[in-house]
Amino acid sequence: MTNRVRKAIFPVGGMGTRFLPATKAMPKEMLPVVDRPLIQYAVDEARAAGIEQFIFVTGRGKSAIEDHFDRSVELEASLAEKEKFAKLDDIRESLFEPGNIAYVRQQEPLGLGHAVWCARHLVGNEPFAVLLADDLIKAETPCLRQMVDVFETEGGNVIAAMEVPYEQTSRYGIIDSDEADGRVRAVTGLVEKPARGTAPSNLAVIGRYILTPTVFDELERGETGAGGEIQLTDAMARLIGRQPFHGLAFEGRRFDCGDKLGFLEANLAFALGREDLGPGARELLARMGEGSE
Ligand code: G1P
Repeated sequence: MTNRVRKAIFPVGGMGTRFLPATKAMPKEMLPVVDRPLIQYAVDEARAAGIEQFIFVTGRGKSAIEDHFDRSVELEASLAEKEKFAKLDDIRESLFEPGNIAYVRQQEPLGLGHAVWCARHLVGNEPFAVLLADDLIKAETPCLRQMVDVFETEGGNVIAAMEVPYEQTSRYGIIDSDEADGRVRAVTGLVEKPARGTAPSNLAVIGRYILTPTVFDELERGETGAGGEIQLTDAMARLIGRQPFHGLAFEGRRFDCGDKLGFLEANLAFALGREDLGPGARELLARMGEGSE
């Protein structure tokens, strides 16, 4: 079994109900943050962490994602003809080597654990990453890269962790753990969406995981948990004690792009951080702050 994390799973089968009507005919993962679709940020982050093979678990109505990562010969020819070379480079950078991208359908929306399980044959017997595009993370060192660094020294499983307000713990997978050693801590328990007042901590799982393939055996059982869904968190919880399990309080800022305000905030933060748009965005915000718009 290789010990490098070469493969990543992107579960993109979700319906995107919270963003209707925008997501009626368009996958939620294609919603743009400034000028790049959300899924592109997750893919770029995985690339920066050394991922070589990209596995998308899709569903009905998601073909725009496949088109986005495919070549568009007409578009490339037209940009070249118009000498728009910077744009041409930009779209070429998001292409994959043929054969390094694969799609598998999750035929029914049975939960995140089920989506990950659908990719089991494509992953095989090696450690792999899972990235949830809704969780957009702005960091100097991309979050998954930080996690691969922990994995390379510690082995086992690594999950991204972040403190959230106690009143929001019922929205997340919640971590029970030992004392932290720097940013890393040993995870001793995991509970998916604990009922109000029952969370073991306010440390939440954020949508980045490095897992061993043993988790597929647990998912195979098809047991349902919170919300009647097959939960990845429950399968991971059953590995604790049998394999090392680390929570990494990653460096960076996470935006919940599954939420309208989180999505809006991400757009502002990424625009403000860009050389070409930052000054304009700052001016615009100042004007709006003065209440003139
Ligand atoms: C999923 C996971 C949950 C995790 C969250 C992070 O939940 O099941 O454990 O904390 O992502 O965003 P979802 O947001 O799909 O309900």
